[in-house]
Amino acid sequence: MPGPSPAARRTVLKGAALAGAAGLGAAACSTDSKLGRAQVPTPTEPVDLGPADAVPVGGAKLYRDQRLIVSCPKEGEYKAFSAQCTHAGCALDKIVGNEGNCPCHGSRFDVTTGKALVGPATVPLPEVAIKAEGGSLIAGPDA
Ligand code: FES
Repeated sequence: MPGPSPAARRTVLKGAALAGAAGLGAAACSTDSKLGRAQVPTPTEPVDLGPADAVPVGGAKLYRDQRLIVSCPKEGEYKAFSAQCTHAGCALDKIVGNEGNCPCHGSRFDVTTGKALVGPATVPLPEVAIKAEGGSLIAGPDA
């Protein structure tokens, strides 16, 4: 009994190769295993960030472990944002100027507004409530 013609077999093999390449591409683009992704990008409980004066006036500080960015536009005034990139969920790794940097695909965010300045991210970082209390910064719900 004759099998499929050589041309039909080539078509099937070519399709399988393309599907395999597409699968590899998706795996290479995944960031889930690279830097982890929090289930929720913002704190679900109040978080004590320590001394308020650790955030420079006119600047910002990245709290890596808490996945937060806090900026201080003027004395005694603080703004906090999730430090989890809105593109694919990587944690921002540093602040350059007043921009939070995502190491995965290069997105940049304004640390005073959370706005996405450079893509691929287009969605701003979620804002997190924050207050200074007794010289310490408390971020998250009820702040
Ligand atoms: S996860 Fe892709 S730019 Fe941040």
